Amino acid sequence: MTKLLDGNLLAKEIRNEISKIIKEKILNKNKRIPHLGIILIGNNSSSITYVNNKIKECKNIGIEYSLIHLSVNTLEKELLKEIKKMNQNPYVDGFIVQFPLEKHMNHDKIILSINPKKDVDGFHPENFGKMALDMKSFVPATALGILTLLKKYKIQISGKYTVIIGRSRIVGRPISILMSRKNDTGNSTVTLTHSKTINIEYYTKQADIIIVAVGIPGFLKGKMIKTGAIVIDVGIHKNEKKILGDVDFYSVYGKASYLTPVPGGIGPMTRVMLLKNTLMAALNNR
Ligand code: GUN
Repeated sequence: MTKLLDGNLLAKEIRNEISKIIKEKILNKNKRIPHLGIILIGNNSSSITYVNNKIKECKNIGIEYSLIHLSVNTLEKELLKEIKKMNQNPYVDGFIVQFPLEKHMNHDKIILSINPKKDVDGFHPENFGKMALDMKSFVPATALGILTLLKKYKIQISGKYTVIIGRSRIVGRPISILMSRKNDTGNSTVTLTHSKTINIEYYTKQADIIIVAVGIPGFLKGKMIKTGAIVIDVGIHKNEKKILGDVDFYSVYGKASYLTPVPGGIGPMTRVMLLKNTLMAALNNR
């Protein structure tokens, strides 16, 4: 029997918790409402959907937002100017630059230009480095969402063998660091697999926990996992008929002990975690 890990339900609980904290610690004390800045460049349809969902989440929770939508042809120096404005604007508690960037922009230069105190994505090397060294920092929202969902369902991570598929800076790399840290959401033995891994099934078949963030629809098949494995699907792909994850749901369902659905698994968790980071930035800033 496979149990589905309900990200929608937990996201709702966390949304309510954030709203309650905003009321008690901010509104009741006549402080300014937290504010998330979003910079979006170009017309990538997935990015537009992600950003719209983040805005919807801000409205639901009661966090203010501002959106700067720049055209595809925006020069890198113009983007840097917008980032500088966000860095300096005292009303913006935290902000994100939606990725992927246009090809003519230097990803590293953009990340480095964000004030680490406002980096609610947790992608700046100062936050990423602190995360790797067990120091307090902003933690990337998807990784935080995965850990929070596992904790909610009382799934033990400590001592388990975790295999991650995909080494992106947004998901695979941070979650590999977090799950191997020496603390109560870590202590796992982690293998980070990627496009150059030979015989990926050798690893996935042994894994107690598998996190799939590879960006290929239906990549992880039932025959690649052991019975009772816990499977976390970070992918989201739309075709004409439906929404698919990186996991081949129908062959994994029934063999895994736990599985995240797509949609309704990691997606809503990622969105609320971004707003939790924004609240943290607001509380740190005041
Ligand atoms: N693109 C896909 N996921 C993310 C994310 O978590 N943050 C940003 N900034 N861009 C993304």
